[in-house]
Amino acid sequence: MTELTQNPAVGSAASDDSKAGHPMWSSRLAFILAASGSAVGLGNIWKFPYITGENGGGAFVLVYLLCIALIGIPIMVAEVAIGRRGGCSPINSMRKLASRDGLSKRWVWLGGMGMIASFLILSFYSVIGGWALAYVGNSAGGLFVGASSESIGAMFGGLLSDPYTLLMWHSLFMVLVIMIVARGVSSGMEKAINILMPLLFALILVMVGYAMSTDSFGAGFSFLFSPDFSKLTTEGVLTALGHAFFTLSLGMGVMMAYGSYLPKNVSIVKTAFTVSVVDTVVALLAGLAIFPLVFSNGMEPGAGPGLIFQTLPIAFGQMPGGVLFGTLFFVLLVVAAVTSAISLLEPVVEWFEEQKGINRLNGALIGGLSIWALGILTILSLNEWSGFHPLGMFERFEGKTIFDLLDYVTANLMMPLGGLFIALFMGWFMSKQAAENELSIGNGAAFKLFMFILRFVTPAAVLVVFVYNLM
Ligand code: TRP
Repeated sequence: MTELTQNPAVGSAASDDSKAGHPMWSSRLAFILAASGSAVGLGNIWKFPYITGENGGGAFVLVYLLCIALIGIPIMVAEVAIGRRGGCSPINSMRKLASRDGLSKRWVWLGGMGMIASFLILSFYSVIGGWALAYVGNSAGGLFVGASSESIGAMFGGLLSDPYTLLMWHSLFMVLVIMIVARGVSSGMEKAINILMPLLFALILVMVGYAMSTDSFGAGFSFLFSPDFSKLTTEGVLTALGHAFFTLSLGMGVMMAYGSYLPKNVSIVKTAFTVSVVDTVVALLAGLAIFPLVFSNGMEPGAGPGLIFQTLPIAFGQMPGGVLFGTLFFVLLVVAAVTSAISLLEPVVEWFEEQKGINRLNGALIGGLSIWALGILTILSLNEWSGFHPLGMFERFEGKTIFDLLDYVTANLMMPLGGLFIALFMGWFMSKQAAENELSIGNGAAFKLFMFILRFVTPAAVLVVFVYNLM
């Protein structure tokens, strides 16, 4: 097998140990930071609150938490373990493991599907990242100061209705991501991230503190945490499942790629657990910061993808130091989005390198520019083409724009499907000995429970949710 080039998204954190030529993470913490950088992103701060609002709150949150615990964490463990055992990029890891265990070559498709999903996700992820960039400017320019919820809503509506402005910010976001992936993540940048991510966490806490000072904190809290199952639909359950995959960056080989850099003596179970908890806490805190504002300003929790852009600025406009806090918040949101976006472009670039022998710079440019071009469809979905529903003849897709469809197909179909096959691969196909070695939790009750979850619970849960939704 040809030697793989070092994965720069993780390479700098990796010390060149490698007898085999494959670099390794310098520590467990380095892995946790990189994996959390991929996991914590727009999914936590933008998507989680708005889909929670659209799906009625508490009951949805409960299902989401169950999906994280019963499906997300086991699949993350499996994905990292497969990656560590394979030791290559996802496609080649699958190829290697399948041939080693005498399995079908078709397992390689798992890596292929992940790459396509990355491509599709980044095309709309970048447009939303562009919104965050635009809001850095809005905040720094003092546009939120004393603004009413109506004028904040109008500001957001104005942004969405203007394709050229959206295109400008989407382009800027993609340029940032392409530049970083083309050069490889420098250690300087990584150090910066290690400071900026905790800062983002601190700022979300400030926002939760502000939310506590409003008279609607109780209302927001109970919206999030008291389940009302009459508000939960089967599509809501599928959305919760899909989001568990989306927010943990699962089912597409990203964690597999990261796992291939994990030293053998690090506990995968503990590490996956830590990353999942960090990710979940950030999402819940974002919800706690946002819903009290929704209620205290008489807004609709189901306002859709604009939710955080229509609520948080109201708070920034009223609180002392709001210009500073607001600007900082959106800068950090951009940083979180960029670190996730890097992990989405990386597999595409790696594939170009391995299959087509295209170098990193050109790979990042070709991949990035195609994704950028595809992003234009999302931009148009928000304005000129907002009435265009390409699959509107199917009841399920009624009223869905191209943007909605991209989101739906990747998060609700491709990722759970990828996750299902990852669980099946480790649960049923990989040798038990190998699974035991990778997990290193012995072969006692804990191991048996884990394998039971992987073999039965996870696949059944994914299938049940799928089947219900197809009916
Ligand atoms: N997890 C990221 C978020 O919540 C999005 C993301 C980055 C992702 N890389 C991924 C999702 C890989 C699925 C697969 O914003």
